Amino acid sequence: MKRIRKAVFPVAGLGTRFLPATKSVPKEMMTVVDRPVLQHVVDEAREAGIEHFIFVTGRNKAVIEDHFDMAYELESTLQARGKMKEYEALMADLPPAGTTSFTRQQAPLGLGHAVWCAREIIGDEPFAVLLPDMITMQGGRGSRCLAQCIETYNQHGGNVIAVEEVPMEETHQYGVVSIGKDDGHNFEITGMVEKPAKGTAPSTSIISGRYILDSSIFEALKDAEKGAGGEIQLTDAMIKLAKNQAFHGVRFDGKTYDTGSKLGFLAANIAFAMARPELADGLRVELKKIVGTL
Ligand code: UTP
Repeated sequence: MKRIRKAVFPVAGLGTRFLPATKSVPKEMMTVVDRPVLQHVVDEAREAGIEHFIFVTGRNKAVIEDHFDMAYELESTLQARGKMKEYEALMADLPPAGTTSFTRQQAPLGLGHAVWCAREIIGDEPFAVLLPDMITMQGGRGSRCLAQCIETYNQHGGNVIAVEEVPMEETHQYGVVSIGKDDGHNFEITGMVEKPAKGTAPSTSIISGRYILDSSIFEALKDAEKGAGGEIQLTDAMIKLAKNQAFHGVRFDGKTYDTGSKLGFLAANIAFAMARPELADGLRVELKKIVGTL
């Protein structure tokens, strides 16, 4: 079984749900506490053992490339002023030279098209996809979502999708899976549907933003037609691939925040700040004051 070494981060979307903030700032660079959303997601990939980080970007996203590079002026100023803690934190976040690749999607034709744009960099090996606006917090098992997906891949091979539960009345907004043989944590996926009509979803388990995919997904994406929302959907290509390859679902232990929506972004900021000992007490006081006025 081939090891999962590479991960794709599709960051070419327009972020229309977050205008005007995203007019000149990519939504992936908005901060949850003091780290860009994308840095949280790259942290998760690094923790899971990913060695090559592939960003599918678009116009107005050049700042993402700068974020994962050295910043000589800033770094030498920090050193000259003796701010070694800050300097070392920046260095620890920096991916080693040669481990990042950037390619452009050219037009935001959908997530499936964005993933397809990474085909030449991935080549012929299984890889991870992380949706960079979904950030995850670890649960009691102590590992984050992608590490749990890789665990399942190491057990079963094939393709793996992280899922989470939503109320039945919200399923029409997401990709939804059908569930086969199930051990409580992992299960066989017997079908998938993107944005099913209200009341027709096969389950309440939705595709939640972390995937391990076989490279033959690129073949399925090659002639992909536009699907739901007029976009080339990754789910449609996975449905094609599932005709001759196994897919497993992981009910991961932890919590996801959709920072692409305003409410998800606000909740993520509170949850991640409350997990920081130096911020938790002060934030609790502020939150009580606000809640007290409601
Ligand atoms: P979303 O649909 O959440 O992102 O796609 P969006 O299109 O930027 O958001 P809204 O709905 O307009 O607010 C999930 C991820 O896929 C990327 C996005 O950048 C996001 O991280 N994506 C989406 C692409 O890279 N290219 C696309 O054509 C579409």
